[in-house]
Amino acid sequence: MNIAILPGDGIGPEIIAEAVKVLHVLDLAIQTETVEVGGTAYASQGHPLPEGTLKAAKDADAVLFGAVGDWKYDSLPRALRPEQAILGLRRELGLFANLRPAILYPELADASSLKPEIVAGLDILIIRELTGDIYFGQPRGRRQSPDGAFIGADEAFDTMRYTRPEIERIARVAFEAARKRKSAGHAGKVTSVDKANVLETFQFWRDVVTDVHASYAEISLDHMYVDNAAMQLVKAPKSFDVIVTGNMFGDILSDEAAMLTGSIGMLPSASLDASGKGLYEPSHGSAPDIAGKGIANPLATILSAAMMLRYTFGRTEAADRVEGAVRKVLADGLRTADIVGKGTTLVGTKAMGDAVVAALRIK
Ligand code: IPM
Ligand code: MG
Repeated sequence: MNIAILPGDGIGPEIIAEAVKVLHVLDLAIQTETVEVGGTAYASQGHPLPEGTLKAAKDADAVLFGAVGDWKYDSLPRALRPEQAILGLRRELGLFANLRPAILYPELADASSLKPEIVAGLDILIIRELTGDIYFGQPRGRRQSPDGAFIGADEAFDTMRYTRPEIERIARVAFEAARKRKSAGHAGKVTSVDKANVLETFQFWRDVVTDVHASYAEISLDHMYVDNAAMQLVKAPKSFDVIVTGNMFGDILSDEAAMLTGSIGMLPSASLDASGKGLYEPSHGSAPDIAGKGIANPLATILSAAMMLRYTFGRTEAADRVEGAVRKVLADGLRTADIVGKGTTLVGTKAMGDAVVAALRIK
């Protein structure tokens, strides 16, 4: 198992260190290569996604990614901003399917801003298309001079675009996931989120998803406009099973869904290509405001490593063990600052990672 480790910016290195520690106690044959990405790479190599980093990611079987971004790079031309690193990796590695589960751990029911009866037992999966839509439409941008300054900027545009094969393949990922979840007791329902009432791109999306559904008779399909979906997610989140949507809507709805579970610091994600190779990263960002303080929650990254074991390496048992160890430390009352509550014990990033490692050693 060759894993490229890309810690990135802000809290990235701190949370990645804990996930790497967890991977190493599992007794698996793991080889890792750590490389720079994001603002960190820009600062030392002049580019957020240097060639060596891209090569390491391409050569590896899987990528474990921390986070990128820092306000101090906000004035750079867009092509050199830290965010371009993750967008470039998604594009270059063909990582079109982004899986963002939103699961409420019973121990964290109090951490959610919603009433416990609305979120208790929540377990939904957001599938976000990751390499198309307005994120990658061409042409885009304002006219720029060579040094990146905007000339005569009285207009800006981005184009929203999807092709049939792009929609078909993400729809299949959603129906397959719903099928797997159905055999584990979930509803077997896909909700496709679009804006077909206004946007041509998303009427097309709706039509293509409906076509693909014809091969999945045992799975039910609903269509929902994105504004209504945003509302239903806070009104009745448990009415969803699998949500499938485009890149832009998925970006927004997945942050919203993450917060239902109490903290975005808990949620992992997987970004997969057509063959199951993947990049795994926490759903949260680089949080430069708390970087270096040793207080960030490493659990989303540790759970992302578990997703890697499950999806890329097929090591279900090891993935179950990591997820079980995370549940155990939560049951023991350990909490980082983002999820701390009455009657629980506040710990830092490293102590949380150590507790997961200790829980793994018991078994
Ligand atoms: C995410 C992030 C990224 C995105 C940014 C960092 C480019 O918000 O992974 O959700 O918009 O996709
Ligand atoms: Mg986002």
